[in-house]
Amino acid sequence: MLLEGSDSAVVDRAAAALAAGELVAFPTETVYGLGARADDDAAVAKIFAAKGRPADHPLIIHVADADSARSFAAHVPPVAVRLIASFWPGPLTVIVARAAAVAAAAAGGHATIGLRCPSHPIARALLQAARRRGVPGVAAPSANRFGRISPTRAEHVVAEFGDALMVIDGGPCDVGIESCIVDCSRGRPVLLRPGVLTRAQIEAAAGEPLHDSDDASPRASGTLETHYAPRAALRVMPSGMLHTALQMLGDSPLKLAVYSQSLPKGIGPLARHRTMPARASEVAHELFSVLRAFDDEGVQLIWVEEPPATPEWEGVRDRLRRASAS
Ligand code: TXA
Ligand code: MG
Repeated sequence: MLLEGSDSAVVDRAAAALAAGELVAFPTETVYGLGARADDDAAVAKIFAAKGRPADHPLIIHVADADSARSFAAHVPPVAVRLIASFWPGPLTVIVARAAAVAAAAAGGHATIGLRCPSHPIARALLQAARRRGVPGVAAPSANRFGRISPTRAEHVVAEFGDALMVIDGGPCDVGIESCIVDCSRGRPVLLRPGVLTRAQIEAAAGEPLHDSDDASPRASGTLETHYAPRAALRVMPSGMLHTALQMLGDSPLKLAVYSQSLPKGIGPLARHRTMPARASEVAHELFSVLRAFDDEGVQLIWVEEPPATPEWEGVRDRLRRASAS
């Protein structure tokens, strides 16, 4: 059931549902989350069942503030403290050592835990209202079925899970791609998933270099190659190659959609075209919505013009790379 998110009665109703161990989907500034109280293993099990997600894939715990985060952590290292001070509330998740016996199911049995304090006003109000009802934090993956594109609008969540789920409608998410994840549990900060914050911003706040994930990094579902995939086959290509590919496609009956900065020469009359905005933040904001819309129109191929290889595009390039892995 869709609830208009802005009024406090709605937030309170949703907080009561969370406190009672029910699932609630809610907007964050990145993407919509599918939440359950983090301290209730049976409630958390409903998330894994609804998503079809393997139970050993850890969830992020959403908290009202840094104080609430501490109850889930065995230890918050100084670098995590600095990142939290700089970016919370906001689109950054830190991984730290998990407090023993807390949120084991939400952590997928891992010894570490992902913590995030979102900045979206509805998410904040919900987390605060839930905390007043004794909920220390809300475990929430993106509100999509396993392996599918994250939802950035309430309608996307309903399309994934149907009408029975309680969904707070907060309109389109500002950021549009998931939070940056920095693993602070291994002595040096490791970027597990890029988002809209650039490496330079994260390193400036951390006061030390950010390392890339390697084989020792935990296997996270958001870091699997085939994640975030639309149904259509997606390819990313530089604009020159896009023109060549269009010529080669000729009048093939395949339904094609192109997402590029300018209308490519040689695009057939039946192909769909969507103009890619010039700024990375604008593309991040609309990317998942654009891919879903192409899927809904039944296109078979999605060709995307490769964005520049500059720091601000890292999050978008990462999601496009995963969406094109097959
Ligand atoms: O922006 C976001 O982060 C959104 C919104 C709802 O907050 N959430 C989100 O959750 O993207 P999810 O579950 O779709 O992706 C979280 C990623 C997964 O790849 C998960 O494996 C990883 O975070 N993760 C969570 N806890 C972890 C841990 N303890 N160690 C390593 N990776 C972890
Ligand atoms: Mg996800």
